[in-house]
Amino acid sequence: MRYHVLTLFPEMIDQAANTSILGRAVKNGSIQVETTNIRDYSANKHMRVDDYPYGGGAGMVMEAEPVYRAYEAVKEKIGHKPRTIYLTPQGKVLNQTMVEEFALDEDLVLICGHYEGIDERVLEEVVTDYVSIGDYVLTGGELGAMVMIDAISRFVPGVLSNEESSQFESLQDNLLEYPHYTRPEVWHEKRVPQVLLSGDHKRIEAWRYEQSVLRTTERRPDLLRKSYRVHCAFYGGMESGAGQLNEALSRYGTLLDFNRKKLRKQRYHFERQDLLVVMVDEEILKNPGEPEAFSNVRGKKTPCMAVITTQEEQLGQVEEKLKAMFDKQGFLYKKTYHLPSLEKVDKLNEIALDIRRKMEEIHEK
Ligand SMILES: C[S@@+](CC[C@H](N)C(=O)[O-])C[C@H]1O[C@@H](n2cnc3c(N)ncnc32)[C@H](O)[C@@H]1O
Repeated sequence: MRYHVLTLFPEMIDQAANTSILGRAVKNGSIQVETTNIRDYSANKHMRVDDYPYGGGAGMVMEAEPVYRAYEAVKEKIGHKPRTIYLTPQGKVLNQTMVEEFALDEDLVLICGHYEGIDERVLEEVVTDYVSIGDYVLTGGELGAMVMIDAISRFVPGVLSNEESSQFESLQDNLLEYPHYTRPEVWHEKRVPQVLLSGDHKRIEAWRYEQSVLRTTERRPDLLRKSYRVHCAFYGGMESGAGQLNEALSRYGTLLDFNRKKLRKQRYHFERQDLLVVMVDEEILKNPGEPEAFSNVRGKKTPCMAVITTQEEQLGQVEEKLKAMFDKQGFLYKKTYHLPSLEKVDKLNEIALDIRRKMEEIHEK
């Protein structure tokens, strides 16, 4: 991942990017953080980059031309029109899904404003994304750019060591993480919760989920409203793919193998707060006798999405069948993904990210 930061204060970026985990990532080449001083591209002999605002009012405005020239120099180096983010309190407030999506790019240009901001006309020409790091106003975009670089880099391979990385973090499930404890077992007469010493992984996981929900209810009820339980059901030969998708979607998701007759006989009722993701191949068209896969699931306006791994020719037929079935059984069929080859691990992660984005859209409505 290469970050290109356009700024009037490169030293702010250079210092932060060369410290701690980011510093190590720069050294081992996992990320590159390049700064471009907008002042170097001033069109003025006094190297001025700002001027008074048209229409009057307090403060100065950064001129369009130096920002444009700095951007053009970076664009030329990259070789194509890059994804270009303007840090601004007027942008979309950064969240974990956006962070993961930005991490898919190879080059990101980050433009830092100062004073009252930047002349609107250059922003219209170069910016692809307007991002805010929170509902407050900073003196400049540099700290915002560093927040983005830090959060995005955690998803770049080679940045975190095994001990530092965790597949699931606070917020990826729209749940805050459970509390953590380390040695000693008793500190200030406070004991580590007994369950964590039990060695029983199922009980530990259940406790952690409960703590996450409790904590989110207390501290971030707004997040809890956006949270949903993931259920990945598969039919046909895609156990590994469904397992991976389930893990990429949620730490607490359930995996249902509908090849097993026992599971097909059981009734499943899902609520509005659930998400059903089904993964199927051409087996679904063969209808190998009762009970038919998925005929036992019922929703209550539960969102549902499908990943279909058939060849292109059968895709339409399978999609039609699933759509009719799920709509009739109380689900809201939202989207179909086509994945012709299960080997494409990256593609599954991209699908998971898109599903999460789609769920965010649903909750925003
Ligand atoms: C003082 S602010 C300008 C605010 C601008 N007058 C407004 O009201 O939208 C100066 C610069 O700081 C950066 N900035 C301020 N608050 C920010 C935030 N919450 N997120 C990201 N960048 C921010 C932007 O780059 C902005 O151009």
